[in-house]
Amino acid sequence: MASMTATAQAHPNIALSKYWGKVASGGNRPAVPSLSVTLAGMATTTTVRFDASLAADRLMLDGILAAERETARVARLLDAVWPSGTRPPAEVMSHNDFPTAAGLASSASAFAALALAASEASGARLDAAALSDVARQISASAARSVFGGFVELPAGDPAASAQPLAARPVATAGHWDLRLVVAITSEQRKPIGSTAGMNHTASTSPLYPAWLQAAPDIHERVRQAVLSRDFSGLARAAEHSALCMHGTALAAEPAIAYWNGATVEVMRAVRRMRQDGLDALFTVDAGPHVKVFTTVEDRAEVARRVARVPGVLRTIHARPGPGARLLEPDECRGAER
Ligand code: DP6
Repeated sequence: MASMTATAQAHPNIALSKYWGKVASGGNRPAVPSLSVTLAGMATTTTVRFDASLAADRLMLDGILAAERETARVARLLDAVWPSGTRPPAEVMSHNDFPTAAGLASSASAFAALALAASEASGARLDAAALSDVARQISASAARSVFGGFVELPAGDPAASAQPLAARPVATAGHWDLRLVVAITSEQRKPIGSTAGMNHTASTSPLYPAWLQAAPDIHERVRQAVLSRDFSGLARAAEHSALCMHGTALAAEPAIAYWNGATVEVMRAVRRMRQDGLDALFTVDAGPHVKVFTTVEDRAEVARRVARVPGVLRTIHARPGPGARLLEPDECRGAER
């Protein structure tokens, strides 16, 4: 039997139009469309080895044996990829070259890399849309990291729960050379993860129906602004998307508040930057860090001003980047750690 092993690499993404909430019919289908930028410079590298002689699945995260819950989530993806018949156990070794607590969702790059490595190692050889669909079933934002550049994930149709739902590219990384400055505002773990946070929002926030209604139009504005490289249009629409998402979560009972004081200070600083004529926009995910997008021209000044905001511990820099790819054996060092 051919060696059933493969290694793949994928990158995190940041949503400019937010996914928050799932359709009720199941299958981890987003209730709203989303659009993100896949980032260069940070990667998850994952090796999958199917081996019938193993007693059970085994997951190593940055060299440490993972807990049962994480291993079970990985196993669900391996099951979804496996072509037919009984799947042999697998050893999965995953390595992030960016700190997991950096405020950049590592599940997106992790499940995109895992889907591609598992697809190759199992012989399933899924195409990009099928990989994205499989990754989406485990973590919806991971569906977008299969592709590079600007990527959208449509909302699921509540009436068609069995249909595949994949992300699709909107524009290449080269379409718009945006720059990202991530303001890290805390080293603490976030109080509630995105899956639990959005489910709690959906079941208790009186603003959730309004979010479902507003999100498709906001998404379309984000999409048009990206396609026409309209920075001020993107700033208005992307900030509106993030603020509506967080407003809906704040109205949950009990409230979900991901921000701290520095989060708010960075957002205010970004608005001042725009008043001063700089291209800068903020977005915030399920945590207290602020992701500030800017242009090549304004990057240095925006980064300087973000780093100066009281409460910002450090900044991380990124730019649009490529989708998931398979690594050749000689490129694989580092995944084995
Ligand atoms: C705030 O993809 O982590 O980052 O599908 O439950 O795994 P699950 O959720 P996840 O949610 C990401 C939420 C977000 C916004 C976004 O990336 O669109």
